[in-house]
Amino acid sequence: MPESKAIAVLGYGAIGSVVCDRLLAGGVPGARLDCVVGRRAAGTSVPVVTAGEAIERADVLVECAGHAALAAHGEDALSAGADLVVSSVGALTDASLRERLHAAGPGRLFVTTGALGGLDLLVAAASAAPFTTVRLSTTKTPAALVQDWMEPSQKEALLSARGPVVVFSGSAEEAAALFPRSMNVAATLSLALPATPVEVELVADPAADLVAHVVTAEGPVGRYRFEVRNQPSPGNPRTSRVVPYAVLRTLREAL
Ligand SMILES: NC(=O)c1ccc[n+]([C@@H]2O[C@H](COP(=O)([O-])OP(=O)(O)OC[C@H]3O[C@@H](n4cnc5c(N)ncnc54)[C@H](O)[C@@H]3O)[C@@H](O)[C@H]2O)c1
Repeated sequence: MPESKAIAVLGYGAIGSVVCDRLLAGGVPGARLDCVVGRRAAGTSVPVVTAGEAIERADVLVECAGHAALAAHGEDALSAGADLVVSSVGALTDASLRERLHAAGPGRLFVTTGALGGLDLLVAAASAAPFTTVRLSTTKTPAALVQDWMEPSQKEALLSARGPVVVFSGSAEEAAALFPRSMNVAATLSLALPATPVEVELVADPAADLVAHVVTAEGPVGRYRFEVRNQPSPGNPRTSRVVPYAVLRTLREAL
């Protein structure tokens, strides 16, 4: 029987803790949770280590920690020969980080599809001929969209809204930069379809019990509309509950 691969998980929050639990339960054949990097991970049965130690020990580093952590450790992991699974896809809208990670190796880079679906068909259609328009409309609760950079009056207006409010419209890159923990999906779409700029609209809706993403794309090959409605994660309302399972699916590609 082939030996299982040693997996290190970077970040033990809404995504990382579920990834760890599933790995410990043997949910991914061929993958063995070796260690975790994260202050809150003290209760796990595997060693809690520094990022540097994790990179030395792991065959695959699964990043579930945020943009800054990916920027700090991603390149080192790939250069040390570990494969890297990325959750914080929004960080890759920074062209310099993206280029550094693509250029690094011998480890391989895997980017999860995260909270979004339908990319297989969209990428296939775009390879035949680029789309003329690609749009993403995302709806979340106001509380999930409040950001530190907002003026107090803007925060207050958002949190007291009684109906849907458009909080942002613009490019995927701007969306990922302004709403780093909430707009990974815009980055995922934009990176998958680089030939067509993605027009993003972000809506705060106090009645939004589910996180909604509606993708529409039109081009010479066809017209597509995908609607995703995800339950928020119990651990973090900015993250959809499905995301750790998407990360585990991506991990299977790295084994
Ligand atoms: N691809 C997608 O569709 C998608 C969807 C949702 C969230 N995300 C992204 O995934 C990442 C994780 O999301 P989450 O909901 O689990 O966040 P979270 O805030 O619940 O958990 C992140 C954890 O990582 C820890 N952390 C931060 N920096 C660290 C470091 N340098 N070393 C070790 N631990 C560190 C934090 O303390 C926290 O416990 C975020 O960047 C988020 O934006 C991606």
